[in-house]
Amino acid sequence: MDTFIISGGKPLHGEVKLGGAKNVALKLMVAGLLTDEPLIIHNVPDIRDVAIMLEVLASLGTTVDRKGSTLTIHNGHARQFQVPLDIGARLRTSSMVIGPLLARFGRAMIPNPGGCRIGARPIDRHIEALRSMGAAIEYHSEDGYFYATSPEGLRGTSYEFTKNSHTGTETVILAAVLAAGTTVIKGAAEEVEIDELIALLDHMGARIRRSAPREITIEGVSSLRGTQYTIMPDRNEEVTFAIAAAITGGDITVIGSQRQHLSAFFEVFAVAGGGYEAIDATKTRYFRQNKIISVDVLTQQHPGFMTDWQAPWAVLMTQATGTATIHETVFENRFGYAEELKKMGAQIEPYDPDVANPAGFYNFNWEDHTPGDYHAIRIHGPTTLHNAILTMNDLRAGATLVLAALAAHGQSVLHGVEHIDRGYEKIEERLRGMGAVIERVKEERV
Ligand code: EPU
Repeated sequence: MDTFIISGGKPLHGEVKLGGAKNVALKLMVAGLLTDEPLIIHNVPDIRDVAIMLEVLASLGTTVDRKGSTLTIHNGHARQFQVPLDIGARLRTSSMVIGPLLARFGRAMIPNPGGCRIGARPIDRHIEALRSMGAAIEYHSEDGYFYATSPEGLRGTSYEFTKNSHTGTETVILAAVLAAGTTVIKGAAEEVEIDELIALLDHMGARIRRSAPREITIEGVSSLRGTQYTIMPDRNEEVTFAIAAAITGGDITVIGSQRQHLSAFFEVFAVAGGGYEAIDATKTRYFRQNKIISVDVLTQQHPGFMTDWQAPWAVLMTQATGTATIHETVFENRFGYAEELKKMGAQIEPYDPDVANPAGFYNFNWEDHTPGDYHAIRIHGPTTLHNAILTMNDLRAGATLVLAALAAHGQSVLHGVEHIDRGYEKIEERLRGMGAVIERVKEERV
């Protein structure tokens, strides 16, 4: 567990290159299980979640060579069907190996991923979809494992997600490409990262198309081949750097810009006083255009304002004139950072918005809501943020606290850097390159 020491209050200036998208890399690595030929993936970020996925693949008997940001996955060696508990519990996406293992070998044992280990959630929708493809899946609460078999192989199905699921949609795609017959996914998620997985699988010989809005049709094939693929840059990183420029009063040019996938962000960023300018097809300049003013956001599935952007948005709103609200509809508990920002002088209050039909309105399962949980915050600004000793509790919260410390006066100490290392490659080096005063201190082991 490392610590960041950040001296804030300095405008960030310069260029920064985006890393490959985490939420693409992890799924493409799983797709390596679908073929016995080498799969070569370029632009893979050097982040902890990728390192854990490498452990997952190794535990299944798959070898991976890494040269810089290129991974070569060699499948087809000694095979295991069980993801070890200690690895699976650290990475929710580890459960996605279930599709390829069932489709190819008819067996998989995966631990209930992360979080609450007392029920089938939070992958109930994935499991239901796989059952509709002919898999027999039992959950054993004694050991927290899903035991899945499909001795006859998987068969095509028509499955409807009644609530959006990004990785659920990908799990079904990864299972259906080698299933017998055609699978139609209705209520399919539309996040652009999913289209990268589809594009890779198409290169491997799969037959997949977005057949209608929120509908994907997959015609199963008997085998897939190896290929090479370069992962798109990470649009969530881009939002982080855009906000870094606006809150520090700096000027940052992002290389590898994903402007085409950030419309929902630009809509509110421009109103709030953020500035952006296209330099060329892959470069965007970010800065503060006007005085920052409050703008409300509601997180939504694609093409709405992403849940991953709301925590960094909160830091921008601490600098805004007026009161801004953030209403989180995708995850049931994603405001862990608010208490930390309050330590820095932010004025944030939780509240529960009046929602007529919460079970239908929210993307999470309403049964998972605990009375007393809140799903929105109000931020009153502008406030002058000051230094504090802070603890990161998850990836986006980690990025948020780094942003806040960069904007704050004085020296802040941030514990729990491993959370930000899950998704941002060498963030401190890239921020230093733009003038940030940030240092990583390795925590002494006792
Ligand atoms: N849910 C269930 N049961 C399911 C599936 C989902 O209860 O079977 C709930 C989830 O707990 C959540 C909501 O439904 O409350 C939506 O979940 P979804 O399945 O869409 O999200 P996800 O696939 O788990 C991915 C990304 C997230 C990103 C969301 C939204 C990956 C590895 N994760 O999560 O990224 O926020 O989609 O786009 O792709 C991150 O990068 O920090 C991150 C959390």
